[in-house]
Amino acid sequence: MPKILIANWKMNPVTEKEAVALARAEDVRSAVICPPFPFLGAVKKVLKRASLGAQDGFWKEVGAYTGEVSPLQLKKIGVKYVIIGHSERRLNLGETNEMIAQKLFVALRAGLTPIFCVGETKEEHERGEMKEVLDRQLRVGLAAVRAGTIAKEFFITYEPVWAISTMPGATADTPEGAAEAIRYIKSQVKDLVRPPVLIYGGSVNAVNAAGFLRHPDISGALVGGASLKPVEFKKIINLVA
Ligand code: PGA
Repeated sequence: MPKILIANWKMNPVTEKEAVALARAEDVRSAVICPPFPFLGAVKKVLKRASLGAQDGFWKEVGAYTGEVSPLQLKKIGVKYVIIGHSERRLNLGETNEMIAQKLFVALRAGLTPIFCVGETKEEHERGEMKEVLDRQLRVGLAAVRAGTIAKEFFITYEPVWAISTMPGATADTPEGAAEAIRYIKSQVKDLVRPPVLIYGGSVNAVNAAGFLRHPDISGALVGGASLKPVEFKKIINLVA
């Protein structure tokens, strides 16, 4: 299976024109482009090879939930993937493992492929609690989907929170450190009917991407900051093309 690149634009760019230009520059088969909600439709129109992803999806399909976006709505407009449980939502919006569990369940039921993000914070990392944190996130997060059977495509992204959005030049996790966590995650989800695709995320850029993408245990990268710079992202694309 070719390695996958997930471009998480987060709350960027500001205009649809910029979003469309960025999407055109990143439109390769191995990419999943995740723009902000307002640009999903416009980006969908210009993508010829890449898949479309959303950055979140709510835990209910319809109803009185002001400001939320239903996985069913996403599916209907051509979204294929949905990021769920990103650490920025856990930290800034108080998303709990229980909320994330429900979001995963509803996303799968809607026919979307979840990109489930897990990973420990800096403090947890320093206390040596990586495995404990991953255990909890996986056990609670996957409880609802385990009750059924996951026979659909499913991604899990290991994103150590301390390695996300670090300053240029700062060290992200090492490929071997990331692979060790990924092997651990794999061992914890081996009961799932279909083995999930395991990806790394956290300050992946043109300089360090090769180490992650060439590692046999890592099936791809979730790229934030560097996916907003077409020249840099192109260099990462060239590694998987
Ligand atoms: P980053 O973001 O590549 O800017 O660290 C990764 C992410 O979206 O978690």
